[in-house]
Amino acid sequence: MVQSQGVWPIASGPNELELTVLDWFRQWLGMPNGTGGLLTSGGSTAALMAVVAARHARVADDATLLPRLTMYTSTQAHSAVVRAAWMAGISRENVRVLPVDGAWRLRADAVRNAVAADRVAGRVPFLVVASAGTTNTGAIDDLPAIADLCGRESLWLHVDAAYGAFAALTARGPELLRGIERADSVVLDPHKWLYVPFECGCLLAREPGALKSAFHIFPEYLKDVAPGDEEVNFADYGEQLTRYARALKIWLSVRTFGLAPIRAMIERGIELAEYAEVLVRRESALEVLAPARLGILCFRAHPSDVDDAATLDALNERVNARINEPGRFLISSTKVNGAFSLRVCTHNWRTSERDIDELMGLVRESF
Ligand SMILES: Cc1ncc(COP(=O)(O)O)c(C=O)c1O
Repeated sequence: MVQSQGVWPIASGPNELELTVLDWFRQWLGMPNGTGGLLTSGGSTAALMAVVAARHARVADDATLLPRLTMYTSTQAHSAVVRAAWMAGISRENVRVLPVDGAWRLRADAVRNAVAADRVAGRVPFLVVASAGTTNTGAIDDLPAIADLCGRESLWLHVDAAYGAFAALTARGPELLRGIERADSVVLDPHKWLYVPFECGCLLAREPGALKSAFHIFPEYLKDVAPGDEEVNFADYGEQLTRYARALKIWLSVRTFGLAPIRAMIERGIELAEYAEVLVRRESALEVLAPARLGILCFRAHPSDVDDAATLDALNERVNARINEPGRFLISSTKVNGAFSLRVCTHNWRTSERDIDELMGLVRESF
């Protein structure tokens, strides 16, 4: 493969492939023509570049505004979002981590109230980061209402869809993700639900010029690889100059298998978590903590004779350890409304209903 995919003149082929897959993603999410971006090492890097681009769009080089810049996200946002803000120089006290509703979704009214209070206090709100598929519960924030608010308040809307974006390919995806197409920028992770080997993330921006404005730099030693009119130097759109041809594995996978089986695998991942939820609801000693959403189910063991919160947490920590210890299954744990939760994620294309049956049998034997 060519040495570096950062600039067009030495990597026109791979760069054409990258433009092609970016346009697939744009279409899958229903974003407008002209949307652009780049492939990245993963969702965390893409989030950092989104925050830097949003910051640049708001303050450009006016360092005096920087200490007052304030951004908004939820308690359920991935840690990569908050870390991206820190790395982008947003002071820690200006990263608002807002509470969510009963379905673990960030709502527009929570953002509106926080923005209003911050404006009164002299801060400079500039960015809302919503989630489309939270890591904890698969929740999707109220994207249409948040997009309306961002429009009214002139805030950059970034959607972290690293987890959930490729659900857009399923029959129910477009309705679930409605509003994502209005975002200023979106992160997708092909190395998650597009089954592409890592590392492979993606940042899409409605106005790729905003990325270029934030990242473009043109030293004299690169003048021989300046792009022509119809050409793209991806190094101008992000932090990386030397980069490898990530588009190839996406392009090959979609071209080789076709979209139909990929769509079917994603659908199946969603359905398997729903199947697991049915099994959990059948058992009186098990309790659903967050219903199946986008291939994630949160639940716990809850025997009728145990009611104390600390005892339940300790019991479920033991169950989690017992399930994972033999190595047959790898589930994870998290906290749902403060309670220790077992968390099943059913994305793997090899996972079957029989696996879920076996897992639930093991759960029953583990307490
Ligand atoms: C919702 C969400 N955002 C961001 C990330 C970070 O992405 P990455 O691990 O590709 O850097 C993840 C998962 O790791 C995620 O689930």
